[in-house]
Amino acid sequence: MLDSTRRRVLKATGAGGATAVAGCVGDEESTNDPESTSTNTDSRPAGTDAERVAADPTDVPDPVDWDDPRRHEVTLRTEEVRAEVEPGVTFDFMTFDGRIPGPMIRVRQGDTVALTLENPPESNMPHNVDLHAVYGSGGGAIATSAAPGEEAKMEFEATYPGAYIYHCAVDNLDYHISSGMFGMILVEPEEGLPEVDREFYLGQHEIYTDGAVGEGGKHGFNFQAMKHEDPTYVVFNGEKFALTPDRDGAMQAETGETARVYLATGGPNLPSYFHPIGNVWSKAWPNGAVAGDPDRYAQTMTVPPGSCFVGEMEFPVAETVKLVDHALSRVARKGLMAAIAVEGEDDPGVFDPDP
Ligand code: CU
Ligand code: CU
Repeated sequence: MLDSTRRRVLKATGAGGATAVAGCVGDEESTNDPESTSTNTDSRPAGTDAERVAADPTDVPDPVDWDDPRRHEVTLRTEEVRAEVEPGVTFDFMTFDGRIPGPMIRVRQGDTVALTLENPPESNMPHNVDLHAVYGSGGGAIATSAAPGEEAKMEFEATYPGAYIYHCAVDNLDYHISSGMFGMILVEPEEGLPEVDREFYLGQHEIYTDGAVGEGGKHGFNFQAMKHEDPTYVVFNGEKFALTPDRDGAMQAETGETARVYLATGGPNLPSYFHPIGNVWSKAWPNGAVAGDPDRYAQTMTVPPGSCFVGEMEFPVAETVKLVDHALSRVARKGLMAAIAVEGEDDPGVFDPDP
């Protein structure tokens, strides 16, 4: 199940990275020429052997409960980790904090963020972060560029509200994002967001490998496939079917509750057509634009690459809600699926499967 055990595992493996690859860094594989690493089957040492990169979807910071501007110290650590896309298939991910999506940063409009980007010495690549919530060159990408072993700092005011993506934006940014380097900063409006019973945070992106879905072993990165926008996998949280009973477990809810779902679509190239099977977005904020009025009872929401979505669901009946991209070949063939298991009283007046 997706619970604190998994998170402890992630934290533990992430912290072990410094010793896991001693002696492996410093060769010339960190060149920024994508073609030179296009089939890096085993030439590029992984920074860390993590068991999982899938972030716990319930790992969401508490809602804003303060009324005056605050200053937040935030550190993002760029971790390159070898992990499974599905059982038996490994891939060299690049991440913020060893997880996909990267940690949600949650602040209030008018707050200040003092952000440190920490690129550990065992990394092979330079990294940085571009936050769409920032007025400033590259959304902060230039100020935060850090080579392996360096850290970089910047400070910004979150002047406008919304759910915004952040992502690595070095020269081969499509490669870095496709390897997992994206997450969300949620800037709550001054008046806050409506209260809900549960919040879930997901990230969708596509992975371009030199293998086929399910083909065992280590998959290298496939730059040609990325150029043609023809991914091997399209996934939530970096893993095939990660948030389902078959893998890490479904998300949980109870009848009568309201849940808010946050989606960051990293891409780098494909939009998500985000649909809850057996349910509807009773409130939907396209582009994560929570300052505006939501769409009501929207079925399938387009979430462009480099954007976010915020939507709410109600659960009048017990069911398993499947969250999908309604470009359904991504579900049937490329590994995209998440589930919310809703338990509680049935309401045959609303839905009777066996009249
Ligand atoms: Cu990067
Ligand atoms: Cu961007």
